Amino acid sequence: MPLQPEPSWHGANPDEPDFRDTLHERYRHLRKVAPVNLTPRGYVRLCRHADCERLLKRTKVGVRTVDGTLPSVDETHMARAFMLEQDPPHHTRLRRMVSRYFTPRVMEELQLRVDELCEELVDGMDSREVDLVQSLALPLPSIIISEIMGVPAEERAMFNAWSNDLTYILLGTRASRAQQSRANAALGHMVGYITEKVQQRRREPTEDLIGVLVRAEQEGEQLSEIELLWQCVGLTLAGFETTTGLIANGVRQLLLHPDQWRRLHEDRTLAASAVDEVLRYEPSVAATSRCLHEDAQFGDIAIERDTVVMAVLAAANRDPEVFDAPATFDIGRQPNPHMGFGGGIHMCLGAHLAKIEAMAAFRVLSQRYPGAKLLSPHVQWSSSLLRIPQALPLCL
Ligand code: HEM
Repeated sequence: MPLQPEPSWHGANPDEPDFRDTLHERYRHLRKVAPVNLTPRGYVRLCRHADCERLLKRTKVGVRTVDGTLPSVDETHMARAFMLEQDPPHHTRLRRMVSRYFTPRVMEELQLRVDELCEELVDGMDSREVDLVQSLALPLPSIIISEIMGVPAEERAMFNAWSNDLTYILLGTRASRAQQSRANAALGHMVGYITEKVQQRRREPTEDLIGVLVRAEQEGEQLSEIELLWQCVGLTLAGFETTTGLIANGVRQLLLHPDQWRRLHEDRTLAASAVDEVLRYEPSVAATSRCLHEDAQFGDIAIERDTVVMAVLAAANRDPEVFDAPATFDIGRQPNPHMGFGGGIHMCLGAHLAKIEAMAAFRVLSQRYPGAKLLSPHVQWSSSLLRIPQALPLCL
């Protein structure tokens, strides 16, 4: 019987005020001293790439406990129905339904639209000093996700404001009262708005995501009204801030490494591998969790079923067992089996779209502004749970 260690943060307590600024150093230390870490809050953190892969792909796990409870979420008043909060068979059915929208034809159209919009937004940066978050990293994904949903341009600002407030939902019961009330108000608005769009699409079919889900329902797929609503809300949440983070973190890292910015300027075909390197080196989603559905052993620690186990993607992405010189930012890195999109059955459904958006942003900016510079090497992180700069002031 293996000995159970004393719970400890080992210097990587997420409540430390400077945790986000020192994240990579802290996780490097944790991976060395306690790669399988039983935390004082009772959940376990995995920092090695092999352990994270095993958890997400080859262990009996769910996002809910065995009896169906969603950890850290109060479902008394409203059940959660987004696919990322469901285990099979509901997850399988919902993911299949939403995948109906992301066909190769739609992806091709989206690629053209993303390229066009990116050029337009960069054209609009007329001053020599810009905040890249406000001028590109935020509007690009938010306009694209609203267009995917079929939100008309004049309603977009309102829709985006709700999406912003809704991100506090991700904190569950850990959000402050003020954050919870803003998130709940936004959820109420969003639900009312999407319900109205659903009714419109029942009368007049459309090709946007809401239209595709309504058609699935009409063709006899099992999809309740609540499930339909939650896929729209969830996708808006999943596809917006994450991509803002990828673009802003990416441009920041590229400019912190001017040799890599120059390399990209000289060879635009590196944009795809540059996106993967940003997802490895500075992922906007640093971790994802599962509940064990059977007892399991990771490293020296025996873990009981129903324990929440966190795959620390940011730590796995710098595991020297898998990546040569993991602390080096190399936009030509091959192979690059990063875990920035998670893994297993919940692996990000929007990965391709996110990459298209970030590639366009990196390509257009590096082509037009080879001399771009950060106004400060320091970053202020947004209040979001995710790893997203609040602003990114640049001189073009
Ligand atoms: C850089 C941008 C993005 C990042 C870093 C990201 C990351 C992630 C991660 C880490 C997960 C959880 C995976 C897991 O637990 O194994 C996830 C799930 C998901 N993402 Fe993304 N995501 C991004 C963009 C998008 C976009 C643009 C969309 C769609 C418009 C999207 C839709 C989804 C969906 C639907 C899920 C749930 C999949 C499931 O439960 O089967 N994501 N994403």
